[in-house]
Amino acid sequence: MHHESDRTGPHLGPAEFERLGAEALRWITNYLDRAETLPVAAQVEPGDIRRSFPATPPETGTSLDDLFEVMDEKVVPGLTHWQSPNWFAYFPCNHSFPSILGEMLAAGLGTQGMIWATSPACTELESLMMDWALDAFGLPDRFRTGARDGDGSSDCIGGGVIQDTASSATFCALLAARERATDGVAGRDGVSACPPLVAYTSEHAHSSVEKACGMAGLGRANLRLVPSDPETLAMRPDELERLMDEDAAAGRIPFYVCTTCGTTSSGAIDDTAAISEITRKHGAWLHLDGAMFGVAAICPEFRWVLAGAEHCDSVCVNPHKWLFTNFDCDLFWVADRQALTRALGIMPEYLRNAPSESGKVIDYRDWQVPLGRRFRALKLWLVFRHYGLEGLRTALREHIAIAQEFADMIDADPDWIRCAPSPLSLICIRHRDGDERTQAVLEAINASGEALLSHTKFDDHYVIRVSIGQTRTRLEHVHKLFELLGMHGHG
Ligand SMILES: Cc1ncc(COP(=O)(O)O)c(C=O)c1O
Repeated sequence: MHHESDRTGPHLGPAEFERLGAEALRWITNYLDRAETLPVAAQVEPGDIRRSFPATPPETGTSLDDLFEVMDEKVVPGLTHWQSPNWFAYFPCNHSFPSILGEMLAAGLGTQGMIWATSPACTELESLMMDWALDAFGLPDRFRTGARDGDGSSDCIGGGVIQDTASSATFCALLAARERATDGVAGRDGVSACPPLVAYTSEHAHSSVEKACGMAGLGRANLRLVPSDPETLAMRPDELERLMDEDAAAGRIPFYVCTTCGTTSSGAIDDTAAISEITRKHGAWLHLDGAMFGVAAICPEFRWVLAGAEHCDSVCVNPHKWLFTNFDCDLFWVADRQALTRALGIMPEYLRNAPSESGKVIDYRDWQVPLGRRFRALKLWLVFRHYGLEGLRTALREHIAIAQEFADMIDADPDWIRCAPSPLSLICIRHRDGDERTQAVLEAINASGEALLSHTKFDDHYVIRVSIGQTRTRLEHVHKLFELLGMHGHG
């Protein structure tokens, strides 16, 4: 039934919105409830989904009454279910009901917080959430945004901002580093006006570092991928030092080092404290990419994961991976906000306004690549409010405990070899029969739809990554995965 009476011109009316909205909530709850029973990877061929929709937009509006049927029939089969408890691929991208409510509120408010004046609540709740998170993870005060903004004082040095992704944080940190290293010349006159700049990261770091070097015009060839230790798979500080010394001796400027807390391949944790001594010697910017494992620092017993952060110029962690907060939400702190805003700040006439010019407020558009920005702080606020730090610790500890139990099962099984340290929630394994067998097992499990795994390579050898962290993953799901490994990997 189409409720025409509630419409205002072409617009959906409020009563209809409420009715459909309540149905949408029921549908979401039901979807999450049954996600476990669905094949984890989408079982479709390229083009299938597109073909099932009309090729052109409707000329006249149609009722949304069949929306949820169409979702079930046409959209859900094309989903890979990131919120299935049988999700073990890549890293998690988990979420929670409080976070979904936060996303709904942000969508409903429809604000765009590019500058303080375009929604003071968007900016101020965000800077407060960055300080809450800083306290939650035990990060040092030099990254605190502080309450000083807005009360007339402009002596804040560090500060935090919510970026869309860790890739953006890496890129923004690199631009700020370039600004600092060239005293503004690179931003103003271009990199060709500067001596060659060189960046460094572990061979196992995320590809976003390479991408950032390309985007910043440094050239990907000017990123050194530092060899890792064969046991820990973490960046070797001695190798980093050797490379930085060599570059400096050749007249190049070692300007940016990115360490990782939880490398994407193996979950390795670089020794940021040791590396900070080397970066300091060269005056390079040190960025700590804690996208995955940084959030574990919320538990006192895992606070060590961010050791050395106190020596960094910038740090990021991703609540949208493992802290029950919808994608997108990356927390990015800098020790010197001016390096960042000098690199990214801009003031066109059409955005001039008194609060910005007073220097009393933060305009987050100067802390990120885009101008516009969503009200992301709401979902994080609701996550903190609902769980409290204790609730978040309980949830992370449960994931880590079941991951450790899984690691023990692997260690006790003669068919499988654990091939990287697994102190937290990522376990890397290979079959004793070799690469082909390892890959065949992964492909069989993924094709079965019972679970989803992804892979990497160490020394050119195929490795299965078992990444635990979906909100509803429990021990029983990990037991089932172990059985699947046995079923496809035995004999
Ligand atoms: C260590 C690390 N850094 C950065 C990223 C990029 O994450 P995002 O999607 O937030 O850009 C990832 C993604 O898995 C990652 O593992």
